[in-house]
Amino acid sequence: MLKYFDRKSGIKVFHDDNLDVLRNLADDSINLIYCDILYNTGKTFDDYNDNLGSPMEAVEWYRPRFLQMKRVLASNGSIFIHCNWRLDSYIRILMDEIFGGNCFRNRIYRKHSGERGFYSNFDSQVDIILYYVKNPKDFVFNEIQRKTPKIVPLFENGYIPDRSWYQPIPGQQIVDLISQNKHWLVSRSQLIKMIKRNEVRVINDLPYRFTTAASVGNLWDEPYMLDQYSRTDTAEAYDTPKPDAVLGRIITMCSNEGDTVADFFMGGGTTAVIAKKLKRKGIFCDISGKACAVTIQKLKALDN
Ligand SMILES: C[S@@+](CC[C@H](N)C(=O)[O-])C[C@H]1O[C@@H](n2cnc3c(N)ncnc32)[C@H](O)[C@@H]1O
Repeated sequence: MLKYFDRKSGIKVFHDDNLDVLRNLADDSINLIYCDILYNTGKTFDDYNDNLGSPMEAVEWYRPRFLQMKRVLASNGSIFIHCNWRLDSYIRILMDEIFGGNCFRNRIYRKHSGERGFYSNFDSQVDIILYYVKNPKDFVFNEIQRKTPKIVPLFENGYIPDRSWYQPIPGQQIVDLISQNKHWLVSRSQLIKMIKRNEVRVINDLPYRFTTAASVGNLWDEPYMLDQYSRTDTAEAYDTPKPDAVLGRIITMCSNEGDTVADFFMGGGTTAVIAKKLKRKGIFCDISGKACAVTIQKLKALDN
């Protein structure tokens, strides 16, 4: 059932099972999906029971939902599935099967806590975000720009045949990595784009990228990514919130203003709030009435 529709921001909140909501959405209608799914901890939270049975039973529960998510995702769209060590390998195989292994982009490790005082194991301090795109040749990825340029090597030591080729650089000599027993770090097509953008510099016969782009790795361990940064504002209102910074990074880098973002496991509405702040439209849903109430309250508060 549609619980909230803000015409101005284009944000909708549904109170329903996500499978029913998904079945009613049009093909290719969502640019970015983020889902902080059930981790299958076996725990009972205030408002939902995090128990899907064995890992294989969980996979069968997720399968129809991920199939629908693929259908509704735009042809240049991206999808992020946030899980942890309990299901991540099973979800990876399921997502590979549904989206295609070539559509897998990365596994992001988000550090959720520091030392927690558990000494009988290697304390699990990260959870995992699996990142896929619908089309590996066409997807939105906005690099983060820094103020000052940087020079970074475009080569790596050690010769790999299909990654070592001659490339004339306009106004420069031919860069012969083969004779130097090195190979390119980028594909030929990516290199040509960089040359056109005047980003490639040759220093001592070796190529470097001259760039203002800041590299964002797949270890997200900045202090503001920790769980404690999501607790202050939402813990009383809803269990298991994710920090704003996690959603801020995903939405900024993998969608554009005016795009439609969806979260089908909305919880306390972190994705909805950040999407609205970043001027994205959105489809959000949760099976819990409390989750919907908390999210709608937060979305309305942004208008004050
Ligand atoms: C891990 S929480 C999401 C927390 C959220 N990322 C946040 O920042 O607040 C998972 C949510 O999925 C919801 N959920 C569980 N089964 C669902 C279903 N079949 N359809 C829709 N939502 C569901 C739960 O009610 C819960 O709110």
